[in-house]
Formats: sequence, C-alpha cells, structure tokens
Amino acid sequence: MHNKHSWAEPYKIKMIEPIVITTKEFRQKALKEAGYNTFLLESKDVYIDLLTDSGTSAMSDRQWAGLMMGDEAYAGSRNFYHLEKTIQDYYSYKHVVPTHQGRAAEHMLSQILIKKGDYVPGNMYFTTTKLHQEMAGGTFVDIIVDEAHDPNSLYKFKGDVDLNKLQKLIDKVGADKIPYVSIASTVNMAGGQPMSMANLKALRELTNKYGIKIMHDMTRIAENAFMIQLNEEGYANKTVAEIVHEFNSLTDGATMSAKKDALVNIGGFLAVNDYDTFDKARNMVVVYEGLHTYGGMAGRDMEALAIGIKESVQDDHIAARVGQVFYLGQKLLDMGVPIVKPVGTHGVFLDAKAFLAHVPQDKFPAQTLAAELYLDSGVRAMERGVVSAGRNKETGEHNYPKLELVRLTIPRRVYTQAHMDVIAESVQRVFKNRENIKGMKMVYEPEYLRFFQARFEKL
Ligand code: F0G
Repeated sequence: MHNKHSWAEPYKIKMIEPIVITTKEFRQKALKEAGYNTFLLESKDVYIDLLTDSGTSAMSDRQWAGLMMGDEAYAGSRNFYHLEKTIQDYYSYKHVVPTHQGRAAEHMLSQILIKKGDYVPGNMYFTTTKLHQEMAGGTFVDIIVDEAHDPNSLYKFKGDVDLNKLQKLIDKVGADKIPYVSIASTVNMAGGQPMSMANLKALRELTNKYGIKIMHDMTRIAENAFMIQLNEEGYANKTVAEIVHEFNSLTDGATMSAKKDALVNIGGFLAVNDYDTFDKARNMVVVYEGLHTYGGMAGRDMEALAIGIKESVQDDHIAARVGQVFYLGQKLLDMGVPIVKPVGTHGVFLDAKAFLAHVPQDKFPAQTLAAELYLDSGVRAMERGVVSAGRNKETGEHNYPKLELVRLTIPRRVYTQAHMDVIAESVQRVFKNRENIKGMKMVYEPEYLRFFQARFEKL
C-alpha cells in the first residue's frame, strides 16, 4: 500500500533529454507562425511541454529492454500473446484486437455496434470518441452528473453518470436505439475527473434491465482506480490493480489509448467479452490497421505495452503520478488562480472563463490563454473549450461548452517538482497580467477535429 503523505517518485533517472529556454521575441515569432495554436508549434521551440499526456510518457528500463525482445513476425508474434494475456489478467477482458492507438479502436467499435439513428449516452463527450459515434450514424447524449459542468463543485466523483438522465433517454427513444453506454475513466473533458465504483455498479444494474451494453474508454483507468482507493468507501485497503480489475469487470468491453496510462509512446486496442463483436473487429482490423495479431503496432511496441500495463497499476507508481499533478494544482490554488476543482488526475485545468472573465467565449478565451502562457515562458498547454467542442452538426453554430479550459497536462515520469514550480510561476505571471489580454478570431477552420489545425489571429 502506498504512503498517502508522500509522492516521491519510485524510480531514479538514468537518461536525460535536453530542453531549451527561448527568448520572448523568439516565442512571439514562433507563436505567430503557428497561428496561435499550440498544436502547430514545433516541439523544439517548447520549453516544458504540457500539451498532452498522450504518448509522452518516459518508458522504464524494463520497457526499453522489452523493445529488444520484439518478435516482428507478420503473423502470431509472441509479443501479441504476451499482450493478450496481460490484458486478460490485468484488465479482465476476454478478447483483444490491437490497434495503432485509441481512435482506431473507437472507429471499429462504433462501426460494429452503432446503427444510423442510434443514441450513445456517455459521461461527457471526448473529441475522437464522439466523432466516431457520429460518423457511424449515432447521436451522442451527455448523461454525466451536473456537477461535472461546474468547475467549482467539489463533488469527488464528477465522472459519475446521472442515472435519471439515462432513464429519461431510454423512456424517450427506447432501449433498442441505445447500443451501449459509453463511459470513460477518468473523464478528460471534465478535467480528469473519476467515476465511482458505486455509480458504475448502479449503471450496470440499470443497463442489465434493458439489455444495454457498457463500453469503457479505459484510457486512464489506473488513475481512476487510484481516486477510488483514495476517496471511495470500502476501497482504501484494495490495491489499484484489484480496483482496475473490478471496475473493468462491470463493463462489456473497452477501447484503449495505451499512450496514456499504459506508459508507451504508441499503441492501443479494442477488448471485448462478447465473441461476436470480437469476430467482427478482428475482421475489420485487417482492412484498416493490419493483421489481428499486431493491429497497427510493431512486435516490440506490443512488448513495451505489456510491460507498461503491469507497471501502470502499481500503487507506488500511480500515487507518485497523481501526486505530482496534485502538487501543481495545490500550488495554483494557493496562488488564487481559478482552476477546475477538485484537481484531476492527468493535469491541472485552468478555468479560462474565470481567468479571462472579460473575454467572451466566441473570442476563444482558452485558446488565447494557452497562447499567452507559451509567450510568457515557453510552457505549452492545450485548449479544451469552444474550439475543441466544434460545431453543432444541425445548426452549424459553435458548440459553447460550459467548461472553457486550458489543460496543463502532465506527462508520466517526465518532469520534476522543479518544473512544476516553474509552470506555476508562469501561470501566476499571466494571471497578474490578465487585464491586458484580448481574445482572438479564427481565420482557418478544418472540418474535422478543428482544434488540431485551426489558425487564429490576435484581436
Ligand atoms: N479517449 C480519451 C479519453 C482520450 O483522452 C483520447 C486521447 C482518446 C480516447 C483517443 O486516443 O489519441 O490514442 O487515438 N486523448 C489525447 C489527449 C489526444 O491529449 O487527451 P488516441
């Protein structure tokens, strides 16, 4: 069991990667060239990179050793069988189809289970997940608890589903129009907020009554399990590994972006208990990804992933990982900076609506704040607000989410406590200067997932 009072890293550093500090003039130019979109900056121009925790983890020496054990046979790689057994043992799911990353699994799952006119309820949307549900002809319906949309609510399990919202949807459209409930652990767009085991159990009961599946976006399941261990009654003495297994056992299948929790730079999978869905996915994967024993991954990547999964559920690891995020969050709270509370597990989310209260949402406050932060110190963050939310597919208007956030996403096992201090000081400087910051206008807008490539100009 981990020591809840200390989050010192349970490892030491064996190799380093130099990063550079640039001048303000340099950053001004780089930012302009990137259309004020942090996704379009070159990484060499970034000092501390908090764009995402996706694919940015540091692998362990064991994982690097695993790369050397890659069996690159086209069919039946021994690394696939290691990965398959690891997923069965640690994550509980029966059948595994590897993919190059999470969205490829989302694509297959959506195409296999969703029919045109279906509804897919979920605990808040995620960008790629929702897009694949829509491309399969479905409509996403947000059934997360109201607290999740309030950055100041201190509710501990903001990832919980509101069962009344689900019941209402079932009553309105009928259970046969709902192929599955799409739940994520933890909820990224809500600020990295966990779902409780009690809520999942209640959801399981309700969905069983109507024969509706539960599909699990398990991208950050270990972090969710850690929060259950920390805050949910009856779980303090269970290991994170046990909690992960129990949580997954209550669902019918999962999509995984292994680039987060599982400590690898690339990889993912679809895992299901039902043979028929598996059979369809195994057939589909050869069209889009590769043979069913490698999906989009090299043998060596599957080996590193199998090892990463086992490391990711160790209590010491996860306590240090989330502990570092909490450290940064507490520091910002102490400085009076508005952030999403409680602090999430994979990053600290600045509340841009409160931070830049004078910038209206159609002038992209979160996008603007992310740009200003880079300008101040070379720290790169990510917009999670109106730009990410895209447009309403019927009216063509912007979707205006309640949460307009800038995500300071912490890569796993990469930065030190001193980096956290530098980040907090930069955020504080921008906060002090906030009155001088104006919004932006969008001058280029791609059709799909516009936040990745959109370009802006300062007002
Ligand atoms: N689900 C969640 C909850 C995610 O956070 C992501 C990716 C995906 C699915 C898609 O997985 O990138 O492997 O295809 N999130 C990244 C992020 C991009 O920065 O939050 P992918």
